[in-house]
Amino acid sequence: MRLRLLFIILIWMGGGCQSASERKTYTIGFSQCTGGDEWRRAMLNDMNRELALYPHFKLLYKDAANSTSTQLTQIRELVAQGIDLLIISPNETSPVLTEAIDAVFQSGIPVILLDRKITSDSYNSFIGADNLEIGRMVGEAIPNLLQNKGKVVEVWGLRSSSPAQERHKGLVEGLTKSKAVELIGELDGEWEQDTARKAAQTHLDLLRQADLVFAHNDVMALSVQRVCTEAGINPLPLFVGIDGLPGAKSGLQGLMEGKLTATFLYPTGGEEAIEVAAQILAGKAAKREYILSSIRIDHSNIKAIKAQSDKLLHQQQDIEKLNQKIGQLNDTYATQKNALYVIITCLILAVLLGVWALYLVRAKQLSNKKLELQNQQINEQKNKIEEVSNKARQATEEKLRFYSYISHEFRTPLSLILTPVEDLLSQKAISQKDLKTGLVYIQKNAHRLLRLVDQMLDLRKTDAGKQLLQASEQDIVLFLREIVADFQQKAQKSKIDLQFITSSSRVALWFEPEKLDKVLFNLLSNAFKYTPRGGYIHVTLQESPDKVQIIVKDNGEGMSETEKERAFDLYFSGQKKYSLGTGLGLALSREFVHLHHGDIEVASSKNEGTTFTITLPKGDAHLMIDEKTSLEPTERITPIFFEETDLPSSLPQSVGEGSNESATILLIEDNTDLSYYIVNKLNKRASILAYTNAEEGWEGILGTIPDLIICDVMLPGMDGFELTHRVKEDFRTSHIPVLLLTAKSQIDAQIEGSKAGADVYLTKPFNTVHLSETIKTMLNNRAKVQRRFGSEYVFTSDNKAEKRFLNELTARIESHISDAAFGVEKLSTEMGMSRVQLYRKVQALLQMNVNDYITEIRINKAKTLLRETNKSIAEIAYETGFNSPAYFTTLFRQKQNQTPSEYRKGNGL
Ligand code: FRU
Repeated sequence: MRLRLLFIILIWMGGGCQSASERKTYTIGFSQCTGGDEWRRAMLNDMNRELALYPHFKLLYKDAANSTSTQLTQIRELVAQGIDLLIISPNETSPVLTEAIDAVFQSGIPVILLDRKITSDSYNSFIGADNLEIGRMVGEAIPNLLQNKGKVVEVWGLRSSSPAQERHKGLVEGLTKSKAVELIGELDGEWEQDTARKAAQTHLDLLRQADLVFAHNDVMALSVQRVCTEAGINPLPLFVGIDGLPGAKSGLQGLMEGKLTATFLYPTGGEEAIEVAAQILAGKAAKREYILSSIRIDHSNIKAIKAQSDKLLHQQQDIEKLNQKIGQLNDTYATQKNALYVIITCLILAVLLGVWALYLVRAKQLSNKKLELQNQQINEQKNKIEEVSNKARQATEEKLRFYSYISHEFRTPLSLILTPVEDLLSQKAISQKDLKTGLVYIQKNAHRLLRLVDQMLDLRKTDAGKQLLQASEQDIVLFLREIVADFQQKAQKSKIDLQFITSSSRVALWFEPEKLDKVLFNLLSNAFKYTPRGGYIHVTLQESPDKVQIIVKDNGEGMSETEKERAFDLYFSGQKKYSLGTGLGLALSREFVHLHHGDIEVASSKNEGTTFTITLPKGDAHLMIDEKTSLEPTERITPIFFEETDLPSSLPQSVGEGSNESATILLIEDNTDLSYYIVNKLNKRASILAYTNAEEGWEGILGTIPDLIICDVMLPGMDGFELTHRVKEDFRTSHIPVLLLTAKSQIDAQIEGSKAGADVYLTKPFNTVHLSETIKTMLNNRAKVQRRFGSEYVFTSDNKAEKRFLNELTARIESHISDAAFGVEKLSTEMGMSRVQLYRKVQALLQMNVNDYITEIRINKAKTLLRETNKSIAEIAYETGFNSPAYFTTLFRQKQNQTPSEYRKGNGL
């Protein structure tokens, strides 16, 4: 691109230069025989004036100064300089000069002869006056001037030059017409005034006889006239010359002054020479001879001629001035033209650069756009890939969570089967009551496992498309009424207001009772699970011409937005918790409703409740033939609610209250069966407080400061890890050992438990003997804090929260040490704890009563004062917060087995 641009510019510039000199320049050589007289100067001026019209002509001028040999040299020089044309005024007709001019002409250089001739034809054109004719005119005029009688003396120009020879010849011819006019003598003036003067001076005698002197030019005529005048020749002869030049000391002036009688105009031919040269150089035909005309000038026409020639002279001067001006203007024009070329070139360059820059900018923009587009596409693809991989990861995570929860869900009932079995097997003699209780656990949990397996199989079938609807037309009102009735007893026990509401007495609907029963069972179980005591669950049937709606509404804990959106997803059960009761059950319910060509929707707000709405189409137009059955539906099986009928469920509760054992264990387990089972096993050795969720459990912990916490990991709301963390972070509870009990057996779950600060981690199913033994060990191993006595108390323990607590406790006691009224009451307020909390915490950590601890610090301070000061016993007693020195002494002796004075003495004071 750059090279092409440069090329275009160069071509343009080349074109510009060519047009600036579009005509070829020519060099014209001009060889002048002499340049020393006025006539020759006039010739050169005429040439130069004409040359102004031909700016592409260059004139190389050489003056031979009347020397033939010089002229020969100069011709060679001009040829060597590469002239295109030669104008020559040959000095003489000599053979050498003729040969030289011949050679030039033969070499192809055009030759113009000006004024004088050579003896060969080797020239293109001759320009000049007809000298023979002029001589003849003179010869014919003389008789007139001399009135046909008289003597004439002729003054020759250079005899070897053609004008001189022709003028003489013409003169002689002209004179022959008059017999009485006689040519008495000839002088050699050689065209020059000095030569003529010398010739005249040596021929004065001849001149004295002459009546008329004819010189071949005015210059010589005037020179001889002066010699004659100076010689006193009287009367003077008449003087006639040739040339008729204007200007001082020239022919016309001589005529005016009476020095000359007549002269004949002899034009220089300068202008014509340039014109003819131009023609030849342009390749045009030129005439062989250009004969310039002459006239006689004498008293009769001198004034007119003079005036004319003056005017001409003036005009010539004007023309010269104009030429000069034109020259200046040409220079200016050339400069401006060059400047213009430069400007135009710059402009074009600027435009081209501009276009180039635009092109580059455009190209850049285009490539930027392209890049942007590519970037966008790449980003979009990246986002898509990320989205897909996120979805895949999420799906995998959810599947993994689902499987882990399935195993968890299986582990709890399994542990409630295995644990009673192990218990029964370990007993030597089994009582009827223990056997019955054990078997009820086993039966109930086996049923639970069965239901889970059934649900999974159902779901597997719907997933595989193997579930087929077997609908028959039945009364949906009656069907719903019966299901709700089945749950009534459970509702009463949980103090939940369960109602079936409808305005219809009978509604015929095509459905499969077994599947719809499972759907309703799931929705109601779910509602019961999340509805607190005192809440309500309403099942409403609404009928419209083409459909029915079954609405199950509760005012339970409700769902978050995400939970609601994904309530029916199989692999999702909220942010953390996975419950087959909802996850599997709801996913299955939706599949069954869809099999009925119906729809199920959920509306829910956190802490306000949940509403499930099932919409089923009326009639059978939507059903395929194989989706209908004429078989009577099988009898509905009434669900078994073991919890309500066979086991106590008054949790949270304090079980085993009043037991003689001093240890208090707080249990948090959402499975009431398992909770009851554990309580039942442990209440012989400890007071047990049981809770079904961690929030309530935490309140319980703060209220009682138990000796041990047993907590399930997977709990609704706050989980076991969070609770453990909270217990271990709070200085009021940090000392309490925590045993995590869970179905989560994976090692990473155990690590998470340890990180949270759990002391022991037991997995389900567990052995009750192992559990009891572990609890025993934990209670015995309660973290004991070592104290180091000194000027202040420093506690060493692995538990930072405990250290912080004890240091703060000690610092507060020390800061009030002289205040006798400072006791447990004030101390617990300052520590932000209740008296009981403080009491239990200090007891657990230091195995001593808070009051004893306060007294111990007072005594220790007193000991320091006894050792290190001279203060009196009484002073020390008051300073360490004892009401009287006597009481101080009594307590001191109890602790130290010596009186304060004895102690002071014993320490060298
Ligand atoms: C000038 C001149 C003229 C004359 C001519 C003849 O040099 O002497 O006076 O007419 O040459 O060639």
